[in-house]
Amino acid sequence: MSISSDTLPTSPVNPENPYAEQHEHPDGPDDDRPTALQIVADNVFNEWHDKVVLITGATGEIGLETAIALHSTGAHVFITARHVSEGQAAMWKIRSRSEGSGPIDILLLHMESLDSVRQAADEFLQRSPTLNILINNAGICEVPEGKTHDQFESHFGINHLAHFTLITQLLPALKAGSSRTFQSRIVQVSSTHHRCGFVDFNDINSTNKKYIPYLAYAQSKTAMVWTANYVDAVYGTAGVYALSVHPGMVWSGYQQHMEPVQLKWWTHGYGARQVKSPAQGAATTVWAAVGRVWEGRGGVYLLDCRYAGGSRVLDFTSADFLRYLPCGWQTEERLWKLSQQCTEESEPLLEGMMPIAQASTVGIRYDSVVMEDAD
Ligand SMILES: NC(=O)c1ccc[n+]([C@@H]2O[C@H](COP(=O)([O-])OP(=O)(O)OC[C@H]3O[C@@H](n4cnc5c(N)ncnc54)[C@H](OP(=O)(O)O)[C@@H]3O)[C@@H](O)[C@H]2O)c1
Repeated sequence: MSISSDTLPTSPVNPENPYAEQHEHPDGPDDDRPTALQIVADNVFNEWHDKVVLITGATGEIGLETAIALHSTGAHVFITARHVSEGQAAMWKIRSRSEGSGPIDILLLHMESLDSVRQAADEFLQRSPTLNILINNAGICEVPEGKTHDQFESHFGINHLAHFTLITQLLPALKAGSSRTFQSRIVQVSSTHHRCGFVDFNDINSTNKKYIPYLAYAQSKTAMVWTANYVDAVYGTAGVYALSVHPGMVWSGYQQHMEPVQLKWWTHGYGARQVKSPAQGAATTVWAAVGRVWEGRGGVYLLDCRYAGGSRVLDFTSADFLRYLPCGWQTEERLWKLSQQCTEESEPLLEGMMPIAQASTVGIRYDSVVMEDAD
């Protein structure tokens, strides 16, 4: 048999950037960039009737599309909502658009209260002893200065500490769900804003400085990335990996507190062409959750359905885009300990997890990588 060069693909698909071509010339929502459902169709060949997925904030634009796509895998899907009526509305939308027949459970969750997070985690554990994928998607963006019930700055408390608590509460279930054929995954829905603000360990609540919503949001998203890196380094050996993603620009509740000058970026020229539909915005999250290439791999940062560098890469401040600031294991461990103090959560000790002292040696594996500019 002869093989003609006409039948060979022009270039092999890079498994860490399989949708490169579709992202080459973005042209606004509903252009050629893949949707979350396409990612599922391309990656999940077997029905996922044995999988359990939990998505926070499925009443929002990106969370709903994430839930629809993951439900279409056949998995049992848990969604969180602040109110029963909103959870039910989301559930009906999932049922009407997903071809999956798995159960959908609603967990009531008010992320401004750590007690509510623990109650939701308890409720989950009563209904399922195992979890395969935890998607920490819910979030607020650039809201005016405020505090959670537990007296933390709103972004830090809701985006980071609430998800941190969910992670520590559910790590045993994630470990229990992990198997040789599919190791459990945590997906932290972050943002490219994480590059614009570090965690201010001396002032996490922004009480001693002028409150700038943009920086408070950035701090919380950085915290989510560092938490993923910590989980990945320590719990990866126990079969629980963690990845961070930037979903892309999507019109949603996300913009409601933005200044007109920021919104101009969304409505004109280059910025407007970057904007995705919610279904496209959910694609990278879903790729992190189902992509075969991420089996047993974490500590990475994904955007536009591609690997964009180790997430332990060097970030830069908005003030000086050329000044790269290092982060690494010690910073991530420091944040983890601070988050434990804030939430009074203890370190879940799981069989097979890497001793924390040893994890520091894993913690430097990405330090030499510099993340490319994403916007
Ligand atoms: N849209 C973008 O361009 C963009 C860019 C970068 C990153 N992201 C990230 O993507 C994620 C999803 O955002 P989105 O664009 O889909 O925004 P969205 O439509 O506003 O959805 C936010 C979700 O978070 C939930 N939520 C907010 N505060 C909560 C609280 N205190 N307790 C419980 N749930 C709460 C919301 O619940 P309710 O429905 O009850 O309000 C909603 O389900 C966020 O983490 C965001 O930071 C978005």
